[in-house]
Amino acid sequence: MTATIMDGRALAKKLTDDVKTSASKLSTKPCLAVVLVGDDPASHIYVKNKKKTAEELGMESKTYILPESTKEEDVAFLIDDLNKDGNVNGILVQLPLPAHINEQKIVQSISPDKDVDGFTYTNVAKLVLNEEKGFIPCTPQGIILLLKEYKNDLTGLNVCVVGRSNIVGRPLSVLLLQEDCSVDACHSKTVDLKSHCLNADIVIACVGKKDLITADMVKDGAIVIDIGINRLEGSKKICGDVSFDTVKETAGYITPVPGGVGPMTIACLMKNTLTAYINQQ
Ligand code: GUN
Repeated sequence: MTATIMDGRALAKKLTDDVKTSASKLSTKPCLAVVLVGDDPASHIYVKNKKKTAEELGMESKTYILPESTKEEDVAFLIDDLNKDGNVNGILVQLPLPAHINEQKIVQSISPDKDVDGFTYTNVAKLVLNEEKGFIPCTPQGIILLLKEYKNDLTGLNVCVVGRSNIVGRPLSVLLLQEDCSVDACHSKTVDLKSHCLNADIVIACVGKKDLITADMVKDGAIVIDIGINRLEGSKKICGDVSFDTVKETAGYITPVPGGVGPMTIACLMKNTLTAYINQQ
């Protein structure tokens, strides 16, 4: 059996078309402010894509690119200004920040009403307590929407989440629990990752390690979601955490890299920005 490719680009287009239609009916444009500190090449690409998408959807986008040497207090001043600016609906600080800046301190200074990444304590608590109206982090939100597009009901499925980052693995495990999945949260200290993966109806890899998930680790017919973004040395190509060419021969469904989860992350960011605008009216 060859796996069905889960087309994140197509679903993201549906979502962003809806955002565009909703935004076109508003009296003013929703505005997303993105802050980037330093020279990380991947971060620059992500931020450019966020700006481009926002503008294509008829939203306003303000990008603040600050040098690597920027002091923590100057980033904090900028966030404070953006929190107070009535024309700014959403604020995103691109991570990682340079090592001399306390990432938590900066992220937690974002007003929860404008925290379209869903990283502030208020929004994290709402997520964990399953309260409506908080912002859900964009990548985990995108993964749930993509899963539901291909598998209507996730109830009772065994899911192995490999990775426990604050941005993806941790919030994703919580969201899957709310979908009534049985969640197996694996990480770098997990003993015998293979047996955990083989027990899973859905394997989700969010580590950043090429070929972490190989065909012998995946049950026949399982759903495999790849969030890894790994740059191949000496090439502009990127690949995920899953050995795609072999895993796709036995999996039931699989996300490609690129074109799987990536476009869903941006679509969910746009959705959250529109929600922030509506909530603030
Ligand atoms: N860096 C990698 N992914 C993300 C994300 O979803 N949000 C932010 N702010 N930074 C990131």
